[in-house]
Amino acid sequence: MSARPGRFITLEGGEGAGKSTLAAGLAQALSAEGRTVTRTREPGGSPGADAVRALLVRGDAERWSVLSEALLLAAARNDHLERAIRPALAAGHVVICDRYSDSTWAYQVAARGLDETAFHALSHLIAADTPDLTFILDIDPDIGLARSRGAGLGEDRYERMDLRFHATVRQAFLDIAQREPQRCAVLNAAHGADAVLADALAVLRTRLP
Ligand code: TMP
Repeated sequence: MSARPGRFITLEGGEGAGKSTLAAGLAQALSAEGRTVTRTREPGGSPGADAVRALLVRGDAERWSVLSEALLLAAARNDHLERAIRPALAAGHVVICDRYSDSTWAYQVAARGLDETAFHALSHLIAADTPDLTFILDIDPDIGLARSRGAGLGEDRYERMDLRFHATVRQAFLDIAQREPQRCAVLNAAHGADAVLADALAVLRTRLP
């Protein structure tokens, strides 16, 4: 466990897995217990990072080479860490972040073929903080995409990648959980939102009392 006063919790998973619903539920439950919660997301979470998000989530699937995409994500993450995440952790907040570095591993390295050394070099360059706990919301991409395609936000660049891409992303998240069982907990996201929240709270109480 880290020495920083706050706690850093990340939520990961494919499209339509219910991460934002879980983030809202966790924030409400922890606030009710008297914890100060900062809820945030990537790409984005600070004004600069939100501006980069707009470049990443719109347009053609081929808009960016994978290295350019990883550089944009790293710039956004660095701004988010400097201006939002680290100050909140230093103030003792529970930071709940919807997507973080594991998404870069799953989408850019596993699914788009970014060189692993580039991933590690960028993480090292920005000294990316390691989460205390990561929930991996696992769902069949067929079901997840059907849920997320209805959102109509125009943020559909990744949703338009093919089903094989999303199956690779799903497996990559499960592989991360297997490699790092102490940091990660897999939740069955096909369950209803209340059940997923109850599962997450049970894990939270055991792992981060
Ligand atoms: P969202 O729909 O969960 O807000 O995320 C927007 C998209 O950004 C999602 O399709 C996955 C993608 N993404 C990456 O490809 N790599 C990353 O590192 C992050 C944080 C997100």
